[in-house]
Amino acid sequence: MVKICCIGAGYVGGPTMAVIALKCPNIEVVVVDISVPRINAWNSDQLPIYEPGLDDVVKQCKGKNLFFSTNVEKHVAEADIVFVSVNTPTKTRGLGAGKAADLTYWESAARMIADVSKSDKIVVEKSTVPVKTAEAIEKILTHNSKGINFQILSNPEFLAEGTAIKDLFNPDRVLIGGRETPDGLKAVKALKDVYAHWVPEVRILTTNLWSAELSKLAANAFLAQRISSVNAMSALCEATGADVSQVSYAVGTDTRIGPKFLNASVGFGGSCFQKDILNLVYICECNGLPEVAEYWKQVIKINDYQKNRFVNRVVASMFNTVANKKVAILGFAFKKDTGDTRETPAIDVCKGLLGDKARLSIYDPQVTEDQIQRDLSMKKFDWDHPLHLQPMSPATVKQVSIVWDAYEATKDAHAVCILTEWDGFKTLDFQKMYDYMQKPAFIFDGRNIINPAELREIGFIVYSIGKPLDAWLKDMPAVA
Ligand code: NAI
Repeated sequence: MVKICCIGAGYVGGPTMAVIALKCPNIEVVVVDISVPRINAWNSDQLPIYEPGLDDVVKQCKGKNLFFSTNVEKHVAEADIVFVSVNTPTKTRGLGAGKAADLTYWESAARMIADVSKSDKIVVEKSTVPVKTAEAIEKILTHNSKGINFQILSNPEFLAEGTAIKDLFNPDRVLIGGRETPDGLKAVKALKDVYAHWVPEVRILTTNLWSAELSKLAANAFLAQRISSVNAMSALCEATGADVSQVSYAVGTDTRIGPKFLNASVGFGGSCFQKDILNLVYICECNGLPEVAEYWKQVIKINDYQKNRFVNRVVASMFNTVANKKVAILGFAFKKDTGDTRETPAIDVCKGLLGDKARLSIYDPQVTEDQIQRDLSMKKFDWDHPLHLQPMSPATVKQVSIVWDAYEATKDAHAVCILTEWDGFKTLDFQKMYDYMQKPAFIFDGRNIINPAELREIGFIVYSIGKPLDAWLKDMPAVA
């Protein structure tokens, strides 16, 4: 029986390995992690991450051919294929701080693999890493190999949180990069055989190592660029009276462009886009390509601009001050159908409003109070380190209360900000909310999920990103 071990039981390692176990009953899969609470949660009925369909997949194979363990070294030693799916945060100190990927966790995993291995292994980069990381990993492994043959493959993950199981069942493509040597090609074939259990062969792409590593960074940069492009347009729409939904629909019907990923919003979030683009920018700079670096940097600048622009709109519309005014925040996760808050635009928007002394009442159907408090009190990039390295009890931000009901959040509030596109928000009883709120009652829709005309009918002053402005807002320009 082929044995797979995956180092890192996070948003990628957990779901990916669960699907491999489900689709390949003849393979034993063990997911290991240094975080005891995370492994305990995987072994309980309350999984550590929320992802539609995940519970069911895990239930079907846990204890049969899918196991979760903290005994990292034992399972790595026994495996034929070792996936490394540890976090690769942005460096916060030293060379490349604020841009380069911090490979501390990756390097320590590689050194551990070299230490404990007694048989040949295929080591698979599942984490998103800078181009040429495989070369560094190869050096660590071969310098400590004791005659063991290690083959390094790059197999970046393209799943999107919220649809991870669907994406893993039916991926657009699986990408495997390897060395173009006989041993390298053999390793590529071995990994291809795993995916071929359920992925049609035409969708399994094989490339050289560097193309696979770079393709992941490029794909995330292209995706984020689409969002920044439409968000840049949303500002121009507000200034001209155009409607960004109509513009993006018209643009997206061009088959060369396509309709997906063209929704204007308060900004993109998630653990990957910003981190991977910063990493790309750093690689360009290191390779003497400042113009290319500058080009991609702009995608992040527009994202920051969009979040600031939203905060400025809120404050400017409410007579230029939100001091001591209660603002209801609906949605904190970086998108719907996930409890993940990493780099969520809600953090920057909430911090911006708190900076203007607002009182916030936050409701999200999947995010815990502890997580929100942690996010609002953490320093930039600190979130991307294993939980056990983060402060145990986050400092509570006093101006913030977290509630378990959207209506509760709006009681006596002056304004509502919609920051995540949860389906449940579309069918809220807005009349009831309006009745609960102070007047004039404002609603700022950062995801364009409500119908502005209907809400204006109720009496709200409405701001929807990129849509023609309310007369009220026109008179209160949001200048930073
Ligand atoms: P995560 O933070 O949820 O999980 C990483 C896990 O690795 C943590 O539980 C941590 O305790 C563990 N870990 C760190 N060092 C370890 C070590 N030496 N030994 C054992 N365990 C160790 O991160 P996530 O989101 O799963 O991401 C992992 C990688 O996949 C990152 O490089 C990310 O960029 C990439 N990625 C993430 C996607 C996402 O949607 N979250 C999508 C595609 C790629």
